[in-house]
Amino acid sequence: MDPPQHTKSRGMVAHAFSREAVEAMRPSIQRKANELVDEMLRKGSPVDLHEELSMKLPFKVIYEMLGIPAADHAWLSDNVAVRSSGSSTAKDAAAAAEDLVQYMDRLVRSKMQNPGDDLISDLVNKQLRPGHISHEELIQTAFLLLVAGNATVATQIDLGVMTLLAHPDQLAEMKADPERLVPMAVEEICRYHTGSSFALRRVAKEDTRIDGQDIKAGEGVIALNQSANRDEAVFPDPDRFDIHRNPNPELGFGYGTHVCIAEWLARAEMQEALAALFRRMPDLRLAVPESQIQFSDPNRDVGVAALPVTW
Ligand code: HEM
Repeated sequence: MDPPQHTKSRGMVAHAFSREAVEAMRPSIQRKANELVDEMLRKGSPVDLHEELSMKLPFKVIYEMLGIPAADHAWLSDNVAVRSSGSSTAKDAAAAAEDLVQYMDRLVRSKMQNPGDDLISDLVNKQLRPGHISHEELIQTAFLLLVAGNATVATQIDLGVMTLLAHPDQLAEMKADPERLVPMAVEEICRYHTGSSFALRRVAKEDTRIDGQDIKAGEGVIALNQSANRDEAVFPDPDRFDIHRNPNPELGFGYGTHVCIAEWLARAEMQEALAALFRRMPDLRLAVPESQIQFSDPNRDVGVAALPVTW
């Protein structure tokens, strides 16, 4: 989507994801992260960190923001997982997406009857009722916010934990000074792993030349932020994981007009997950050898299917 339509759609929800709005939500994100770690402790080791923390935290946060009733959480999480998983068949993924769109349709209608203190009710009152957007546009926006940010955040938490465990000296420093070093570790995780590496897809509108490469009008381009994040002209020794990098102008959330709308939310979720985890489980470690962890298909965004941990 391009401006001006993009500007309008993005402008409707941008306030809810601003840095200030996210800071106001931080205590609630922190509480959710702590509760999930408590639950892991209660279950006892080994536990699948991917399932119990990395996936559950972003879902809990977006459900609260969108005002989704608790009774629907489990069903929705399952459907989002089927829609987004590389191992689902195209037919199952399409059916799950259709079910989610229908759910959002029902949710928008119910918010029209009984508005609450949530983003969808806000959009109903300020955008739908005055006729600035259609019912369909609102459904699409709510659907996008529901599905966009769960696997990406989960992957960055999973890979971040694995990478910190593989760098015990840096992990020890982070545990000793979490206030300063957790945010720096999160930036480095976003640089080093680049969660959404195929997201920046574009079509050239006119013939152009970038760095000696001709691109013709109509050709597709992937601006590979994963490659930019390993640019040795910007990041000295780019293949080294280093939580002390400063400055660290990583491009894990993209750049420009379409830069991730939820970049501050995603950072806060990752920060609170890592802080809660290593504070409550100082001896956290993998419960299986790293070679047994299953990574997703290499031509998709890298992620893990499960991350068994012990403490
Ligand atoms: C670590 C987690 C995340 C990463 C690495 C990530 C990455 C990205 C990237 C690279 C883009 C730019 C795409 C482009 O230029 O075409 C993007 C856009 C977007 N992201 Fe995220 N994202 C994350 C979390 C989230 C979350 C939690 C949400 C929602 C709750 C979200 C919602 C969106 C939306 C709606 C866009 C489209 C923005 C636009 O086109 O104006 N993302 N994200």
